[in-house]
Amino acid sequence: MTLIDGKKTAAEIKLGIAEKVQEIIANGGKRPHLAAILVGHDGGSETYVANKVKACEECGFKSTLIRYENDVTEAELLDKIQELNHDDDIDGFIVQLPLPRHISEQKVIETIDPDKDVDGFHPVNVGKMALGLPCFISATPNGIVELLRHYHIETSGKKCVILGRSNIVGKPMAQLMIQKHIGDSTVTVCHSHSKTLKEECRQADIIIAAIGQPEFVTADMVKEGAVVIDVGTTRVPDATRPKGFRLCGDVKFDEVAPKCSYITPVPGGVGPMTICSLMMNTLKAGTK
Ligand code: GUN
Repeated sequence: MTLIDGKKTAAEIKLGIAEKVQEIIANGGKRPHLAAILVGHDGGSETYVANKVKACEECGFKSTLIRYENDVTEAELLDKIQELNHDDDIDGFIVQLPLPRHISEQKVIETIDPDKDVDGFHPVNVGKMALGLPCFISATPNGIVELLRHYHIETSGKKCVILGRSNIVGKPMAQLMIQKHIGDSTVTVCHSHSKTLKEECRQADIIIAAIGQPEFVTADMVKEGAVVIDVGTTRVPDATRPKGFRLCGDVKFDEVAPKCSYITPVPGGVGPMTICSLMMNTLKAGTK
């Protein structure tokens, strides 16, 4: 069994990005600039955004964090997005999700200029990705594809089962895994209403678990030699940890790992690659 080290892979990729940025600057080019909008004080979102800002520093990017309290109006937020759309110094930006209930996430996403949508959430980017056209691909699925590539894991012609059908992970992951020259796999997407989920998993060469249910994937669901990618990051209360919680994946790691050819840990697997993909998209936005 090989443990897939997302942290190390991400560090190597970020180093490569930092070198490219140095080259751009040396040639008189512009330093890529990522902005992030954070609404409220959700613990998870605070951590993600702080990690994104830190990653920008590692890559040599400029970053701007724009904060709003939970009571910001939708109109105010949409105005700020329009301002960022027209700000030539900002190459790309993200609005951290989730947003308070009185703000339409869809409206927010659709207001972002697709050319600055480094999250790859805008329908234009989602549609282009589905067609296999150049676009910004959302960070988590792209990070997983990079990890599979980095470890030279064969995906062509393999049976890939994706657990979860979210817009952020499950759906784009399925698109990438069926695409020629990317996953090139035979893809099955299972979700909360799938009747044959366990049977599908047992036949899978590759399982990508993104359902947000801690330890959902157990050893009896995994074929000997399978590749298991765990996207879960549920916070589970744990009094022994300094923050009072630990991150728990969708896979029961201890019993599943011995059966796998490759498996990602949580934390340190997919998570660091997600942020790394955002950096790759920002570099792309800055060099267009
Ligand atoms: N919330 C959870 N994941 C993401 C992400 O990749 N981007 C944004 N903007 N919000 C998120």
